[in-house]
Amino acid sequence: MQLLYSMFVLLTAPVVVFACEGQCIVDITNEYLRRYTPVMLYVLQDMAEQISTDLVPPSARRASPITYFGPVLDAYNSTAYAGLENAIFPSYFHGKCQDADGVDPAGCPDPDCPIVCGTPGSMVHFYAKLRSIAFEQTTAMLANLTKPSSATYKEVEKLVMADVNTARRRTLDNLSRIIPSQGQTLSNKHGMRDIQQSLQGIMKQLPQLMGQKCGAPKLSRCSWEKAMKAYILSFP
Ligand SMILES: *[C@@H]1O[C@H](CO)[C@@H](O)[C@H](O)[C@H]1NC(C)=O
Ligand SMILES: *[C@@H]1O[C@H](CO)[C@@H](O)[C@H](O)[C@H]1NC(C)=O
Ligand SMILES: *[C@@H]1O[C@H](CO)[C@@H](O)[C@H](O)[C@H]1NC(C)=O
Repeated sequence: MQLLYSMFVLLTAPVVVFACEGQCIVDITNEYLRRYTPVMLYVLQDMAEQISTDLVPPSARRASPITYFGPVLDAYNSTAYAGLENAIFPSYFHGKCQDADGVDPAGCPDPDCPIVCGTPGSMVHFYAKLRSIAFEQTTAMLANLTKPSSATYKEVEKLVMADVNTARRRTLDNLSRIIPSQGQTLSNKHGMRDIQQSLQGIMKQLPQLMGQKCGAPKLSRCSWEKAMKAYILSFP
């Protein structure tokens, strides 16, 4: 009877949830996205400037080379949230903090819980892991969007090639004004392949540039530890 009564109480007692759920998940994911936006733009800007100076002749250079990455930024914008939310919760931080006997270890569920589980206290205790998940996920996503087999890489390549061709046409026009019979016979097939290879070489730097910008391996510049811990603990 006692046992039955206990079970009844357990099953019907209102459940007080101490876990990062709902708005907590949404807000923490968005906070990392917000903090990574200037990091990502800095790295893409660096690569865009290399593309412009190394591959595009001056006569067709853009005022804002970052526009080459328009397709990447669009795709990042529409997929980054889901990817990051999934990488943090539930891939790593989820579940209850209680041990096999249903007891919450000291510091759990909050504010500093030494068990991997789905509460703010656990995210604070394992902050180094959380920091690296955010970095790895953001870097992997951007690497995906700039690898040669991706649709977004091909769109960027098309934009670059169009500018290179514009520059070539202008040079040819000038040339044929000077030496009319020569201009149209210049072939640019070989040059195009070189440019594709150089572009892939620039894109390949992305993980390394992200690491440099963030101060890898410690990620000291993409940690925001104090502010993020306070923010995380602001959720019940
Ligand atoms: C996507 O763009 C919208 C509108 O500019 C912005 O509010 C949002 O934060 C962006 N999302 C990401 C993941 O950058
Ligand atoms: C990268 O792309 C692969 C294959 O399309 C996909 O399985 C993986 O989840 C992607 N990774 C990220 C971080 O978006
Ligand atoms: C073509 O010639 C014009 C006029 O001489 C010059 O201003 C322009 O820079 C030249 N363009 C290229 C691509 O050589």
